[in-house]
Amino acid sequence: MLAVSDVRKEYPTRSGPLPVLGGVSFTLNRGESAAVMGPSGSGKSTLLHILGALDRPSAGTVKLDDADPFALTENDLAAFRNRKIGFVFQDHHLLPQVTVLENVLIPTLVNKQANRSEVVQYARELLDRVGLANRLDHRPAELSGGERQRVAVARALIHKPHLLLADEPTGNLDSANAAAIGHLLLDLHRQQRTILLVVTHSPELAKLFPRTLHMADGRLA
Ligand SMILES: Nc1ncnc2c1ncn2[C@@H]1O[C@H](COP(=O)(O)OP(=O)(O)O)[C@@H](O)[C@H]1O
Ligand SMILES: [Mg+2]
Repeated sequence: MLAVSDVRKEYPTRSGPLPVLGGVSFTLNRGESAAVMGPSGSGKSTLLHILGALDRPSAGTVKLDDADPFALTENDLAAFRNRKIGFVFQDHHLLPQVTVLENVLIPTLVNKQANRSEVVQYARELLDRVGLANRLDHRPAELSGGERQRVAVARALIHKPHLLLADEPTGNLDSANAAAIGHLLLDLHRQQRTILLVVTHSPELAKLFPRTLHMADGRLA
């Protein structure tokens, strides 16, 4: 379960602290999903980064499976993020110099895997599921935008995360590719019973989710 309780965030600026999240609370159980919508600047990315343990809240708590990631040491926090959370950015954030298969394996390089061949097999399986079985040896530059984003989805899932977060994953794609990525995220979420949160400006994509969180001025409307 993801339990978000009165999460606040202010950024220090030269003209004093800038409040960006003004107390956000909600919970999502295993297997549940929601779209996140709201105007630019309303705090969607800030919220997602905090949920993804990429940034700390100024106040409030986030619990994933009853664990509070921000109570951990930096090292344990990094391990928690790597194992429990998958994150898909608007820009794919793939490494240009390595292959599609190697990109998907990047999150697994930090910990010595007991069974390397099993992990590689799972990466191949994921790439098959996102429709890229015949692109394993391509570099990101040799892929279309939609294909790159599908690699990013496969990479986010390599550790079977409990929480899958996507921040405008279809923002740079045409409508056909955007719809494909949206359906892919939802299909994989249902198969793996992750908690899924997707920030989107697309009402068509949001409609596919049972629930939409509407952000306005750093709060849920
Ligand atoms: N590192 C930062 N320092 C100061 N202000 C920031 C920082 N990151 C974001 N902001 C501000 O926080 C607000 C919310 O940003 P963001 O979460 O990116 O909104 P959204 O994703 O909904 O467009 C914006 O007004 C933005 O300028
Ligand atoms: Mg944003």
